[in-house]
Amino acid sequence: MKTLEPCTLVFFGAGGNLSRKKLIPALFHLEMLGRLPQDLVILGCDITHYETDAWHAMVGDIVHERYGEKLDQTVLKRFCARLHYFAVPPGDDGAYARLQKLLDDDPNFPPNIMYYMAVRPADYPAIVEKLGGVGLLKQKNGWRRVVVEKPFGYDLLSAQTLQASLYRHLDEPQIFRIDHYLGKGTVQNVMVFRFANLLLEPLWNHHYIDHVQITHSETLGVEGRADYYEGAGALRDMMQSHLMQLLALVAMEPPVTMSAEHLRDEKVKVLKAIRPITQNAVHAHAFRGQYASGTIGGQTVPGYREEKNVAAESTTETYAAMKLFIDNWRWAGVPFYLRTGKRLAENSSAVCIRFKNPPQDLLRHARQGPQQPNWIMLGIQPDECMRMELQVKVPGLDVQTRTISLDATYRKEGDQDFDAYESLLLDVIAGDHSLFLRIDEVEAAWRVVDPVLKVWAMEREFINTYAAGSWGPRGTYRLFDREDQFWRHSLALNGGKLEAY
Ligand code: BG6
Repeated sequence: MKTLEPCTLVFFGAGGNLSRKKLIPALFHLEMLGRLPQDLVILGCDITHYETDAWHAMVGDIVHERYGEKLDQTVLKRFCARLHYFAVPPGDDGAYARLQKLLDDDPNFPPNIMYYMAVRPADYPAIVEKLGGVGLLKQKNGWRRVVVEKPFGYDLLSAQTLQASLYRHLDEPQIFRIDHYLGKGTVQNVMVFRFANLLLEPLWNHHYIDHVQITHSETLGVEGRADYYEGAGALRDMMQSHLMQLLALVAMEPPVTMSAEHLRDEKVKVLKAIRPITQNAVHAHAFRGQYASGTIGGQTVPGYREEKNVAAESTTETYAAMKLFIDNWRWAGVPFYLRTGKRLAENSSAVCIRFKNPPQDLLRHARQGPQQPNWIMLGIQPDECMRMELQVKVPGLDVQTRTISLDATYRKEGDQDFDAYESLLLDVIAGDHSLFLRIDEVEAAWRVVDPVLKVWAMEREFINTYAAGSWGPRGTYRLFDREDQFWRHSLALNGGKLEAY
């Protein structure tokens, strides 16, 4: 367990979606587990004015929604004792000077300060500028760290501009670019699976692997976030960040050590090895779609264009799929298929690795239908598991084969359940950058998606749609190299077969 110094956590956007859904519940969970440093103080900042009691009541509602009757009132009381609130109304020029006075002069606030930008990405530079302007980023008597949420910029150029604006007031060790996927235990497990088991390493290359699929699908729609999502779309929201990180973990070379720099060196190397997509190859490598109305869990749900604050003619993609090649010795010629979408049939994140067929089909007579390849699947959520599909003989007098699944579900009853933010917040307090992105990683990921963004931005006349509750637009199949490759929609045994739409 890391020793953590007392500190002040300042949250900009304290009343917003991210705070309500992820940050406050994560901090409260840490409080329940007794993992917050004793003198840690939380200062919520937002444009609305709240009296302390109203702020505490709002936080109480958020955690009550999560824990219901199980909510321990003593823990809530302890948590509320740490909670303060400070309003920064737009146009109030004196607000930051008052904030500086509060943080510097009031002994209740420990001088180690983490600033969390849970606001719209467009607001990061202005907040950092104002904090810097009143001296709140100077590390005089304690550390000052800034956590920046994804997406970091909206393309390569804007990411570099944002970076330059942060560097005016911050040094690299002060910046924590968060990708909450890296805080998921199951995502970290990709590294453990690869680097703590020798068994797989000889097979982990183009000699044996046919292709890799990385999927994040969700049944949720845009959920009142259209203001942000309209300008982002699935490619920026999920692909450039979370899915590209997963790809890096699956494909990178073993790092020299697990230190932050060694780890990130390897991730950058593999991201840089992704073959650039030229503009005229975009349609062969990327596919987008937008959800139309449909049925989810028995309920009829509206299409994207009918959602609040979405333009009636919007061509923002809610589904994106890509085919990428990594031009290095390990992966030459192996396609990596990535896809993500909202309002799809299931909530599921997984890495599915399909192996090549044996060089000779010796058992053709023993089966009906085509050869079934081996698969290794890493379930990220909701099923945290590793599965391996193999062929075995059906018991009986004749030699017949069938596919079985070895299921190493590693969650045991009673194992603690964490979201991603708990461990990442503790890492920032501990000053550990291992699970945060370095700027060259972010840039490399933008270089991959930039050509696609440019072409899609020009094609505003039309977007393929898919019914909410389906597995996405049918045309996405054209990304596959061969007819026997297809999206694996499920980790269950029959999930490896070509599924009707
Ligand atoms: C966020 C995206 O980063 O990740 C959301 O902005 C998406 O659109 C979410 O729903 C998915 O994360 P999780 O942890 O809920 O799978």
